[in-house]
This record gives sequence, structure tokens and C-alpha cells, in this order.
Amino acid sequence: MARLESFEKLVSLSKRRGFVFQSSEIYGGINACYDYGPLGVELKRNVKQAWWNAMTREYDNIVGLDAAILMHPKVWEASGHVGGFTDPLVDCKKCKTRFREDNLPEANMTSKECPECGGELTESRQFNLMFKTQMGAVEDTASTIYLRPETAQGIFVNFPNVVDTSRQQIPFGIAQIGKAFRNEITPGNFIFRTREFEQMEMQFFVNPDQADEWFETWMERRKAFYDTIGINPDNLRFHEHGPDELAHYARAAFDVEYKFPIGWSELEGIHNRADFDLKQHAEFSGKNMSYRDPQTNQVYTPFIIETSAGCDRTTLAVMCEAYEEETLEDGSVRTVMHFHPKLAPIKVAILPLVKKGGLKELATEIKDDLKRHFNVFYDEKGAIGRRYRRMDEAGTPYCVTIDFDTLEDNAVTVRDRDSMDQIRVPIAELQAWLAERILTS
Ligand code: GAP
Repeated sequence: MARLESFEKLVSLSKRRGFVFQSSEIYGGINACYDYGPLGVELKRNVKQAWWNAMTREYDNIVGLDAAILMHPKVWEASGHVGGFTDPLVDCKKCKTRFREDNLPEANMTSKECPECGGELTESRQFNLMFKTQMGAVEDTASTIYLRPETAQGIFVNFPNVVDTSRQQIPFGIAQIGKAFRNEITPGNFIFRTREFEQMEMQFFVNPDQADEWFETWMERRKAFYDTIGINPDNLRFHEHGPDELAHYARAAFDVEYKFPIGWSELEGIHNRADFDLKQHAEFSGKNMSYRDPQTNQVYTPFIIETSAGCDRTTLAVMCEAYEEETLEDGSVRTVMHFHPKLAPIKVAILPLVKKGGLKELATEIKDDLKRHFNVFYDEKGAIGRRYRRMDEAGTPYCVTIDFDTLEDNAVTVRDRDSMDQIRVPIAELQAWLAERILTS
């Protein structure tokens, strides 16, 4: 099966079928911001649900959280983001293009010439990636606050609240999905690097003596997760950070990388953050962030094992993995999205062969019954072959066709998206037949 070679075709399919649109498109768009359309929002919700189920429902010792995007500004001093969440930036004095200094070709760094127009480049300066805004009605007295650049800090500052209220004992985790914002200097590659995105983060609090073991465990668990959402293990690899790559908070770190059309690129970070975060927040807030083990009475600051995945990047990886232009026996080509049924935006399409002769009424009845169980789509317009193709592009695993035989034998034709095989299934068994394939796969 040929893999997607560039994002171009995906961008075009996304626009054509309603997965992803440029934000504010009618005004010419806004750079590196995207909207998820009717199919995209379902796909992304399914990605989030798969992650949430895998990270909370499967474990008794992981609880959820939904922290505010706006946090006390001191949070970002304690975390190191005010002082250190920067990229080195250079501007071209002539064409005004901005570059991350570390992305510039060596020759341009030496010559100080713009790679775009040959103009003179400015000296490098550190550019903070956090978006600032004001809280309060009067601008002069309002305080500067930030749109959170990661969801993790909301979890760290709530550690004592969760310990006090949830009866969790170490080792335990807190999971959260939410928006994050970064004023990236070089965003791009469709939804790979955007300025507004969603993260799916889980912080696991452990006894420092067990941190290395838990780090290994979470690497294995996260690897297994990608398998469950249909990512081919051959397209996934783990890259260990060397000492010069490690973030200021990390003792050990691996990037989970996916083989995107742009090459191997980060999907998720798994970090041993040690006791950095809780100690910083204890110092800056003056609050006790340590933990007393109820069995041993030992008091310590827990270490944190972090799994930090990008929701948009996971959705992008899922789309890349699913995309195929398949040449059929008759030489025609169909574009098909082989989504895992669990993630498919539409699970079942209901297609009466024609509107007449009672087929529309029967198809509507079947649709109304099935929609209580699955996200279904009803389509009665156009040739059946064209309707199948539309559903292939949407990644719908099953199409149910109601024809004149249905009126006689009370059975429908179910077409499988991937094999294109068609079989007859009695209407009375249809819901169970579909559930077995969609919900338990
Ligand atoms: N709390 C740790 C943390 O935020 P990170 O490596 O900076 O770590 C985690 O980010 C994940 O968030 C990345 O692996 C990526 O999937 C996603 N991410 C980061 N910046 C992004 C951006 N500008 N656009 C889309 N996703 C992004």
C-alpha cells in the first residue's frame, strides 16, 4: 500500500470532505490556525475518547482533571516558562521574514544573509513563545497573564487538591485534555505545528525510588496505545534525548516519533520530570507540595513521569496512516481513508438504492434505529457507486444499502470499506452485527 508522500493531498481531501479548514478562511485565513469541520471534529473527538479511555478508564489509579486555561502568572515563573520558554529568533531587515536561528542554514548564519531575499539579518534574540494577555477591565492596572503553553502545570498545581479529595495514593496519575497556545516562530506543515493546539497529558506521581521502573512501564503502555488506534508499529519509533537535548526539567526523555510525510517527527514526549515541578511550585507558592505515605509515614516530594501527546498531531498521524489511493481492478483509482472503526467519524452510511417504492421510508426507519447506537449518515442522492466513493473518502467502515430485495427478504446489503465485499445481513441482526465490528474492534 503506497504511503502518503506529502501533506498536499491530505490538505485537499480535508477541505473537500470537511475534515479541516483554514481558520477565518473568508478573510484570507490566519497563519497556523485551523478549524475542524464536520468530519474532523468527530475524528478528533474519537481520538480524544480513545486516549481518555486508555488513560483513565483502564486504570483505577488515574483520575481526570479539566483545569482553566488562564492561570496565576506566578505559575509560569515557577515552571520556568517566563524566563526560559524561548526560541532564538532572527529577522530579515529587508523582507521582514522571521527565522528560528537554529533552523537557518549554516552559511546564512555566518554570512548574516536572508535565505529568502539575500537581505541583512538582525542579531539573534530570544523570543518568548507564550501569548500574553491582560486580565481586568482597566488596561493600566490589569495584570499580565498568559494563555497556557502546556496543560501540565494545571495538573501540578492541583496535586494537593487531588490527593485530598480523590483517595488516590502514590503511585497515581492525573490526566487532562485541553488547549495550549504557543506563538511558534516557524509553524507549519498543516496541523503539525500550530499556534493553538490541544494536548493530551498524563502526569504520574511516583515514589522517587520507583521512577525509573514507571518510566519504562509508561513507554510500553504508550507504545501499545498507538497500536490500538491503528498506527502501524513500523511507522513509530522512540527517540531518546541525549544530555544536550534534555529540557531543563527532565532527567530522562523519549520522543515518540511518527513517520510523517515530512519525515520522522515528534508525536508525544515521555519524560521523567523528577521532583522539579512540585518543588518549584512549593517554593513559589509557599504551599506544601510533598506527600506523606499513609503506610510508611515517609514524607517526600514525588517524582513525575509525564506522557504528553499532541491531539492534533495524533489526529494528523491517524489521517496519514489511513490515507490510500487504491488502484482498482478496472484501473480506476479510489481514495479511501482506512480509519480504525473506533476512530471513524461516521460509522455507518444508510443508502437507499432509490428514493421510490418505499425504500426511502424503510431506510429512514433503519437509520433512526441505528443512530441511537452509532454516528450514522443518511444519503439518498446520486448513483450508488458515487455514494460509496464519498463514504470511502470519509473513512466510513460500513455502507448499508436498502434495495427492492429488502422489501422481500428483510435483509440489507452491507459493504465493507476496506475489502469492498458485500454481504446480506437481516435487518433484525444489523445493529448487533455492526456493534460487534465497530465497538469491539
Ligand atoms: N508538558 C510537556 C510538553 O508540553 P512538549 O514536547 O513541548 O512537552 C508535547 O509538547 C506535545 O504537544 C508534542 O509532542 C506535540 O505533540 C504537541 N505540540 C507541541 N507544540 C505543538 C504545536 N505548536 N502544534 C501542535 N502540537 C504541538
